[in-house]
Amino acid sequence: MSRYNRREFIKGGAAIAATGTLLPSLAEAQGAKVKVGLMLPYTGTYAQLGVAIENGFRLALAEAGGKFGGREIEFFKVDDESDPAKAPENANKLIQRDKVDVLVGTVHSGVQMGMVKIARETGVLHIIPNAGADAATGPMCAPNIFRTSFTNWQPPYPLGNILMYRGLKTAVFITWKYGAGEESLGGFKEGYTKAGGKILKEMFLPFPNVEFQALLTEIASLKPDAVVCFFAGGGAAKFIKDYAAAGLKGKIPLFGAGFLTDGILDAVGDAAEGIETTLHYGDGIDTKRNKDFRLAYAKTFKLQPDVYAVQGYDAGLLLNVGLTAVKGDVANKAGVIKAMEGAKIDSPRGVWTMSKAHNPIQDIYLRKVVGKENKVISVAHKALADPARGCKMV
Ligand code: BEZ
Repeated sequence: MSRYNRREFIKGGAAIAATGTLLPSLAEAQGAKVKVGLMLPYTGTYAQLGVAIENGFRLALAEAGGKFGGREIEFFKVDDESDPAKAPENANKLIQRDKVDVLVGTVHSGVQMGMVKIARETGVLHIIPNAGADAATGPMCAPNIFRTSFTNWQPPYPLGNILMYRGLKTAVFITWKYGAGEESLGGFKEGYTKAGGKILKEMFLPFPNVEFQALLTEIASLKPDAVVCFFAGGGAAKFIKDYAAAGLKGKIPLFGAGFLTDGILDAVGDAAEGIETTLHYGDGIDTKRNKDFRLAYAKTFKLQPDVYAVQGYDAGLLLNVGLTAVKGDVANKAGVIKAMEGAKIDSPRGVWTMSKAHNPIQDIYLRKVVGKENKVISVAHKALADPARGCKMV
């Protein structure tokens, strides 16, 4: 036996004497870092969203002194490219190859469905910091799957009432043809038609296509009272500019789930002025919590935070709640899950709690673009919970 092996053997013997097993002691295990896998888009139309989520998560960690539940964090990263076809392989790289304890991601609902499938198969602790895929906390809900963002149904659902209150009785909905767009339409349609509104036409483009011209021409000829949309990231910036260039701004009011105007105001200039949206965050939320967060984020990253940064930040806060409850023993998954289920997150968006399906119960704000800010006008719906249709945990 070499000296190295002998020393290791004796060390192992001491561990057996202390614990009765060959497994490392709890103290030894807790000395190791908790492995967090970040599966996010770092390229393509959602690249900035991925960066903001990672920044937010890292800010929460820094504010907790670089440790969650007393354990340092080691990051493993994969660019998911917002490509659903690569989702299972990318998730498995983090889970099987890197052996992450926690899988954090992603932005795109199609990619999310692949991640949720793998999370259900492997049982890995999974935190969703953006993608709104309704099924993740609906029919595909699971004890190990948590979300710190929203369902696609949530932000646009209260918009219907707002439009009808203003006498905007007909609308065209335009979006990308994939889960997030279709489910966002579903949320809006449910609220709007219940309130008596009529959708004249549902328009779709393939994701992430930004050739809006022909559809904008058609909208002009349909003459709806309002246009409602789901777009986000680089595609949202292009849509807002094209809407104004087509001469529709000021003629037909444009609304949407708030992703339309989040994180892109610097890129669009005046074209976004006055656009109203509903979302679970607004730059101008007038609380000390939000102001402190915005200042810390801007100082650290030399960027203004947006809803994606908040969701990443809250993913960090949530993980800290879970790990603190088990004193950093991430292997105690039942303990982590129990604590995360009972979490009350003091977020820059306002305090939110976790629904039985593991999705935030949260206020939805009506916001209006004023200069470079998504200014909060009112609370459009207090403590809105997703209906979580099909979730067996509810
Ligand atoms: C989604 O695919 O779920 C999504 C992407 C960007 C913003 C909001 C939702």
